[in-house]
Amino acid sequence: MNAVPEPSLEEAGRAFLFGETFRDEEYFHACATKLRREDPVHWVEHENFNPFWVVTKHADVLDIELHPTEFLNAPRAILGTKEADANREMQGHLVKSLVQMDDPEHRLHRNLTADWFLPKNLAKLDVRLEELSKRAVTQLEDFGGSCDFAADVAMQYPLYVILSILGLPESDYPRMLRLTQELFGAEDDEFKRDENTLLSLMQTVADFVAYFDGITGDRKANPTDDLASVIANGMIDGQPIGHKEQLGYYIITATAGHDTTSNSMSGGLQALIENPDQLERLRRDPSLLPLAVDEMIRWTSPVKHFMRTATRDYEVRGVTIKEGQDVLLSYWSANRDEDVFANPFTFDVGRTPNKHLAFGFGVHYCLGAMLARMELKSMFSALVPRIKSIELAGEPQISKSTFVSGLKHLPIRYELV
Ligand code: HEM
Repeated sequence: MNAVPEPSLEEAGRAFLFGETFRDEEYFHACATKLRREDPVHWVEHENFNPFWVVTKHADVLDIELHPTEFLNAPRAILGTKEADANREMQGHLVKSLVQMDDPEHRLHRNLTADWFLPKNLAKLDVRLEELSKRAVTQLEDFGGSCDFAADVAMQYPLYVILSILGLPESDYPRMLRLTQELFGAEDDEFKRDENTLLSLMQTVADFVAYFDGITGDRKANPTDDLASVIANGMIDGQPIGHKEQLGYYIITATAGHDTTSNSMSGGLQALIENPDQLERLRRDPSLLPLAVDEMIRWTSPVKHFMRTATRDYEVRGVTIKEGQDVLLSYWSANRDEDVFANPFTFDVGRTPNKHLAFGFGVHYCLGAMLARMELKSMFSALVPRIKSIELAGEPQISKSTFVSGLKHLPIRYELV
């Protein structure tokens, strides 16, 4: 943890502004550790960004999440430049999803699909998940001993699950893959459409709109029992939900469970490769799998932050957040908090308790948390017993984003049994 030179407090705070930081785990953790230790509620200023507090301790992130009346998701749920903030109004007219809403609007919209994500409904997906996991292992066999696990396997799996939930055909896979990667990777050279991040984003959103408007038309005419039908025919207080809320719903279900889950899958495998004793432990004791899955999610924390805006003056760890000021909740930092996790920088497949905040907390707690856990569990229960040997075959590459980031390339070499 001390391999990189210690950043100054100012450097540590500003690190949260740039996607580049999140590609360099050591540097990120050096910055976050510095802030947790010396200035856990830290004010960040930069000429290209509206200022905000960055909150790095587990207890403080939790405190803010548990006070949704004092801290709203609107108007600034995610960090963007001043230019992006100024254009938010315009984007807001295009789509609006759960993460941009507050109660009572949020509760009403969340309730529309909450049943879909209950265990009794998700249990129906078990067979499909098993099928996809088997397919993934067969793919690994077909690759013949080496592949890019992130791009060739982990990126595909959750997207097939999303297509299944929404009731969309597998043939729509390439289109959805491109759109979701572009949405989260608008800053990333490999995925961006235009040098201008905002323009890239707007073009991608326009394509989502065109695609899902077609689906809505179809499900209104021919409703089925899929999630797309719930969204297309959703009613609140006897009125159909608005067009931008509907699109927001499709987009959040299509995207929220994609890069996030695949990042945990690839990052989880990388952690097993780099900690062979933990891979061996898991192989010997498969009953550890549920704990291992949560450790992979804590370890990778694919959603790096969400933001909130204070509705009144509120004190956090002795610092007054003033009404109207914004706070950035650093999940990755909270999930390495020395006050909560024993040896937070150790990857421990048997970690318990593991009260990580990678799924957030409170009223916005990830709707897909259970589904994500099921996916990882299914994948690793199929894969781990088949691994005879495995190693890195090249430099892993992480996507550039301050919001959702993780492995986009994980070259591996392996032998299966
Ligand atoms: C490892 C995988 C995942 C991670 C790390 C993750 C993380 C998160 C986080 C941090 C939030 C915000 C929570 C907050 O503000 O307190 C969130 C919200 C959400 N997630 Fe996930 N997520 C994952 C997978 C999924 C999946 C598989 C789905 C569904 C297909 C999904 C759907 C959602 C939705 C709909 C919300 C908005 C909830 C709301 O605002 O009420 N997520 N997720």
